Amino acid sequence: MSRLLLAPMEGLADCVLRDVLTRVGGYDGAVTEFVRISGTLLPTKTYRRICPELDHGSRTFAGTPVVVQLLGSDPQCMAENAARLAELAPAGIDLNFGCPAPTVNRHGGGAMLLDDPEHIGRIACAVREAVPAGIPISAKMRLGVSGTGRALECARALEAGGVSSLVVHARTKVEGYRPPAHWEWIARIRAAVSVAVVANGEVWTADDYRLCRAASTCADVMLGRGAVADPFLARRIRAIAPGDEALVPGSAAAAAASAAEWLEVLPLLAEFWAQVQARVEARHAPGRLKLWLASLRGRFVQAEALYWAVRPLRGCEETSRALELHGVPVIAELLPA
Ligand SMILES: Cc1cc2nc3c(=O)[nH]c(=O)nc-3n(C[C@H](O)[C@H](O)[C@H](O)COP(=O)(O)O)c2cc1C
Repeated sequence: MSRLLLAPMEGLADCVLRDVLTRVGGYDGAVTEFVRISGTLLPTKTYRRICPELDHGSRTFAGTPVVVQLLGSDPQCMAENAARLAELAPAGIDLNFGCPAPTVNRHGGGAMLLDDPEHIGRIACAVREAVPAGIPISAKMRLGVSGTGRALECARALEAGGVSSLVVHARTKVEGYRPPAHWEWIARIRAAVSVAVVANGEVWTADDYRLCRAASTCADVMLGRGAVADPFLARRIRAIAPGDEALVPGSAAAAAASAAEWLEVLPLLAEFWAQVQARVEARHAPGRLKLWLASLRGRFVQAEALYWAVRPLRGCEETSRALELHGVPVIAELLPA
């Protein structure tokens, strides 16, 4: 059985977008944006804020399990925080060894740690020992800092540290988010370890998915920006019967389909906007909507006009009016969460 996972995306995909995307369907799991661990024991309310799904059996409303991601560099501190998080019974705990952000890397966290495989192994081991065996520990890594020279060592160190699965974002830290993703490198990592390996990077279409699976040899794939740009991506991928890859629509068919699909996006936008207003401070709410619309523009031509209509607006009421004018229904009452 191949799994499709929704990637952690700090600042882009929070609990609201996780909720909306997993309601569309097709996902077997999701990972929260990272929770930064730096020297203190975080209160459980921090985890519940970032992952409100913890109050609902660590699942989104649609029932998709949500794993909480931790980012930090001190094994002991990571272990203590993971133990506290474990009290909330997350569907799993993921360790971030991929973040390229300078503020995070300056403190020795994220992708910088890939220069020190022994150290990431120690973090994995300390966390694994601190958390009850029933809670899976996974890790998400890039191929390295500036080169791929230690990628296999890192993967083996994480496996030896006790992680039960490994997501590989197939780029180095220095490559940032620049295409291509080196899917063939994931195959090398997969051959080097016996834990489950999940392929990640540059899957924007069902065609990319097919190519990524072939090159990486992985059954499981994690979708990031492609999932935000196309809320139906997981469903589209699920629609490919094994061996029927030739049925993946070409660009003309996909463009024709998207006009009808846009009508399906409108209620998703309505739900998203209602939840954002309920959860996010009013002055930040329109910004959140603009961020999603900016991504949707890449897949839906109809999102372009809506994006430009909303872009100059600062207030929630005027934003709601602009949405309505573009066919987004108003939601008076939130769906149950
Ligand atoms: C805005 C943004 C925020 C991200 N935040 C995280 C994060 O919190 N934790 C993490 O492990 N990866 C994070 N990533 C990386 C993604 O999970 C994923 O590995 C990357 O985008 C490559 O996949 P894609 O090409 O399908 O987008 C982030 C990526 C983006 C674009």
